[in-house]
Amino acid sequence: MPPSSPISIRPVTPVVGAEIRGVDLATLTDDQFRQIHDALMAHGVIFFRDQALPIDRHKAFGARFGELVAHPNDPGVDGHPEVMPIHADRNSRRVAGERWHSDVSCDPRPPMGSILRLHTVPDTGGDTLFANMYAAWEALSDRLRALLDGLTAVHDGAPYYRETNRLIGRDDGGRSYPTAEHPIARTHPVTGRKALFVNSMFTQCIVGLPPAESRAILAFLYEHLARPDFQFRFRWRANSVAMWDNRCTQHHAIWDYWPATRSGYRVTIRGERPV
Ligand code: SIN
Repeated sequence: MPPSSPISIRPVTPVVGAEIRGVDLATLTDDQFRQIHDALMAHGVIFFRDQALPIDRHKAFGARFGELVAHPNDPGVDGHPEVMPIHADRNSRRVAGERWHSDVSCDPRPPMGSILRLHTVPDTGGDTLFANMYAAWEALSDRLRALLDGLTAVHDGAPYYRETNRLIGRDDGGRSYPTAEHPIARTHPVTGRKALFVNSMFTQCIVGLPPAESRAILAFLYEHLARPDFQFRFRWRANSVAMWDNRCTQHHAIWDYWPATRSGYRVTIRGERPV
C-alpha cells in the first residue's frame, strides 16, 4: 500500500479502543506513526488486522514509542530478551494476564505500553478485555476521589510471579522482583488526565491505612474498575496486533479455549515514574 494512503481510525466503543486500518506497521511513515500515537492517546488501546510483522519489525515499531524492556519474570525469545512469548496450548497450566492488570505495575517505572501480535489463535475464544482507567477514576464519587487522591499503594511483583513460576514448575532461584509505591490516581504525562492505578495482580496495600481498610477499599476498586461500561472485548484473528497504554487502561486475557493453541509475541515499552 502506498505510504500516503489515508489511515482510518474507528472507535470501537465510546469509552475505549479504536481499530486502525490502512496501515502496514512494518513500513510506517513518520506521519502515520504520529497518527497512530495520537490515536493511542485518545483511545487507550488500538488494534490492527492482517499485520505481517516479523520480530525485528515488531521491535522496530515498539521502539518508535520508547526504549523496549525485558520482562522481570520471562527470559524472552532467544536472542531477543525484550520479546516476550505469549503462548498457551493443551499442556499449559496457566496463561499470561488472566486477571485485570496493568503490565508490570510493580516496576518503579512501569511500562508505558505493550504491543501484542498473535500469529495463532483458537477458532473461538481467547479474547482480551480492555478497560479505561480514566473512566474508572472519573466514575468514583467526589468524596471517594478526595479520599484516594494523594494516597499511594504498594505494588509488588513477587507474589504473582512466584505463583506463576510454581504453576509452570520454573525455579526462580530465589531471585528478587520489582516493588514500588505509586499514586492510586496517576496523572497521564501526555493527556494530563487522572487514571485509577491499582490492580489485583500487583497492588498489595494502600500506604497509611490500617490493613482492614486497605483491603476493603482495594476490593471495592477492583470490582469497580471491572464495570462493563468501562470495557471493550477484543476478538483476535491471526496476525492481529493490539497496543495498549498501561498508564490509563487495564486488560484481562481470557483462557476459555483449552486445549486449543493461542500464540504470539509481545514487546513492552519503558514508561516513566507515575505521578
Ligand atoms: C498480557 O500481556 O497480559 C496478555 C494479554 C493477552 O494474552 O491477551
